[in-house]
Amino acid sequence: MSQQPIGVFDSGIGGLTVLKELLDFLPNENFVYFGDTARVPYGNKSADTVRRFSIENVKLLQERGVKMVVVACNTATADALPALQAEFKLPIIGVIQPGVRAALAATHNHRIGVIGTAGTIRSMAYQNAILAVSPDARVVSKACPLFVPLVEEGWTDTPVTRMVVEEYLKPFAGLSIDTLVLGCTHYPLLKPVIAALLGKGVTLVDSAVEISREVGVVLKQQKLASKGPGGHFDIILSDTSPTFAEIASRFLGRRAPEIELVSVR
Ligand code: DGL
Repeated sequence: MSQQPIGVFDSGIGGLTVLKELLDFLPNENFVYFGDTARVPYGNKSADTVRRFSIENVKLLQERGVKMVVVACNTATADALPALQAEFKLPIIGVIQPGVRAALAATHNHRIGVIGTAGTIRSMAYQNAILAVSPDARVVSKACPLFVPLVEEGWTDTPVTRMVVEEYLKPFAGLSIDTLVLGCTHYPLLKPVIAALLGKGVTLVDSAVEISREVGVVLKQQKLASKGPGGHFDIILSDTSPTFAEIASRFLGRRAPEIELVSVR
């Protein structure tokens, strides 16, 4: 079982930021990535729909013989993780708990900002998870739906991007947050612009980095860690796009292999 790949799914290709960290942090492991590009975005869909899609995605990965599943999508984690863990026997972990742990480790004043898709923010999943551990924390959340298309367009540092970032982050002004959770697959690519706006006093928490550590821990605990050789990954998508290869190499920091197309149901 330990030689089987790890399954990773996301609503689309944003989760490749998570796959990148997993490949770097767990060099002995192999991966199967599924991006639901036919049904992206999840961020503006209802929780019921996101849950239904997520269950279908895990079924698909399970059919590929994965030993565990990483939910790279924040929206899917927020809306579907408990349902997935109840439905399937294999270990399934999502990006929210690792992000919350990192935020609580980073904050000194317990004033924490959270940004994500409309669905993630509406679910209050980050907020509830933070308050469950630290009831005195002050959590301020803001949905930033325009960040995803900006990043996919490659506009990670343009005047328009800086204006949009400034506008969305206005609610945090004067609140003295010292930690901001980047609660969406695409936001790590905006780190330089967000950091420049908020300054050195605010720690940016990248769930992609945090979940890789958590996967390492789960693999050890469950005796599922591979001894290698690793570093192989397959990419399966439910639809293709002419810009996939270019976006994927930007998100992954390496060339993407040939993709396999499937239909999900
Ligand atoms: N992957 C999604 C997330 O992390 C962002 C894109 C979408 O809305 O589907 O929430």
